[in-house]
Amino acid sequence: MKTKILSALRENDDYVSGQELCEKLQVSRTAVWKKIKQLQEEGYEIEAVSNRGYRIAFCPDIITAEEVESRLKTAWVGRPVKYFPEITSTNQYAKKIAEEGTPEGTLVVADEQTQGKGRSGRIWRTPPKTAIAMTLVLRPKLPPDKISMVTLVMGLAVARACRELYHLEAGIKWPNDVVINGKKLCGILTELSMELTAINYIVIGVGINVNIKEFPEEIGGIATSLALELGHETNRAQLIAACMQYFEEYYEKFLESGDLSLLMQQYNELLLNRDQKVRVLEPGGEYTGTALGIDRYGQLLVCREDGSETRICGGEVSVRGIYGYV
Ligand code: BTN
Repeated sequence: MKTKILSALRENDDYVSGQELCEKLQVSRTAVWKKIKQLQEEGYEIEAVSNRGYRIAFCPDIITAEEVESRLKTAWVGRPVKYFPEITSTNQYAKKIAEEGTPEGTLVVADEQTQGKGRSGRIWRTPPKTAIAMTLVLRPKLPPDKISMVTLVMGLAVARACRELYHLEAGIKWPNDVVINGKKLCGILTELSMELTAINYIVIGVGINVNIKEFPEEIGGIATSLALELGHETNRAQLIAACMQYFEEYYEKFLESGDLSLLMQQYNELLLNRDQKVRVLEPGGEYTGTALGIDRYGQLLVCREDGSETRICGGEVSVRGIYGYV
């Protein structure tokens, strides 16, 4: 019911009358009032004016299921939301509930991770209440070799959400780091469960540095946050909802074509490695070349110094800028 109250109050810039809320929710005035009181205790400032009704005057930076769900404009992505004040890793929990049959579209969010996982076995830090740690559960009916493309779809969605909401020049470092001013804002870790040749489920974990003001020395040079870039703090639930909305739009395009052909142009426009010199690190060695952009399978086209073109898939290969991280 709290989600419905928040959604109804958000739909309207003006006051919403108690009567209207009762009718929408099919409950008594007392029941509405009780829930409003609970929301106020959680930190929402909800003005109650006689003869006019209720209005949200201030919304705290919280990412509870009610807060996130009341902001969602999606049909199915991000529904339902499972919220935890603290968790080991949202990816780990998402895999557990995916095994237990949670519906496609479920989003796990947490205010803090104690064992957040990054790519290549690295640790991902999610300090309390200042970042986004979220994991989306999907059940695509696709062959496993197509799954790496879904990670690129999420990268594109996050970059686009940051550009639209904050007018920041967020770009993508192939395959899916979201970067601002040469520093990493967001990392994505996709994990999958397979049965013989078919996908059982995938979980896409997204970590976004939102209101973090200081990073440990070892990553300070390559990490940034929205607060550092904007000069002020920002609302995490609003960003989660925007990421889910863009992801739903882009993922449906991806399913329509079965590849990235409908998204390739948008992705390449945000690709920071494009036309840049890159160092390609492969298990067997490394070489340099110029990144040209992705193809419809999400592979990075690199023109090597001898003029030959190579297509790089994610996984074992990583790409670095010649002069820095991008
Ligand atoms: C990277 O190394 O760039 C990927 C980082 C992915 C971090 C996110 S935070 C939410 C989800 N849960 C995890 O344990 N990891 C991912």
